[in-house]
Amino acid sequence: TFVVTENCIKCKYTDCVEVCPVDCFHEGPNFLVIDPDECIDCTLCEPECPAEAIFSEDDVPKEHQKYLEINAELARSWPVITESKEPPADADQWDRIKNSEVEDKFPHLEK
Ligand code: SF4
Ligand code: F3S
Repeated sequence: TFVVTENCIKCKYTDCVEVCPVDCFHEGPNFLVIDPDECIDCTLCEPECPAEAIFSEDDVPKEHQKYLEINAELARSWPVITESKEPPADADQWDRIKNSEVEDKFPHLEK
């Protein structure tokens, strides 16, 4: 399965959802998750994320291993999202790819 990790928090660009052939992205207030029971490992979403937040489960960085369980857990309660939408106005400011000063975003994850 593929996994959404920390840099999606407060960025939520949603480019990823348009390419998923099995609609397995679920949306929370400021983060998306992938349902591991639905993902077919097609790999299409990974390069779509400008925040580089999506990894194959085998490639999730050590410090972000907890996101495997977080994706599985939150996919059960959050609704499916299939169409991209405007990201938060301050998304770029929270994007570690664009702003090297961004620190641990896990405390900002809203459930
Ligand atoms: Fe969807 Fe494919 Fe990404 Fe899995 S790898 S979440 S099936 S786009
Ligand atoms: Fe999040 Fe990247 Fe998708 S920031 S919403 S995983 S495009």
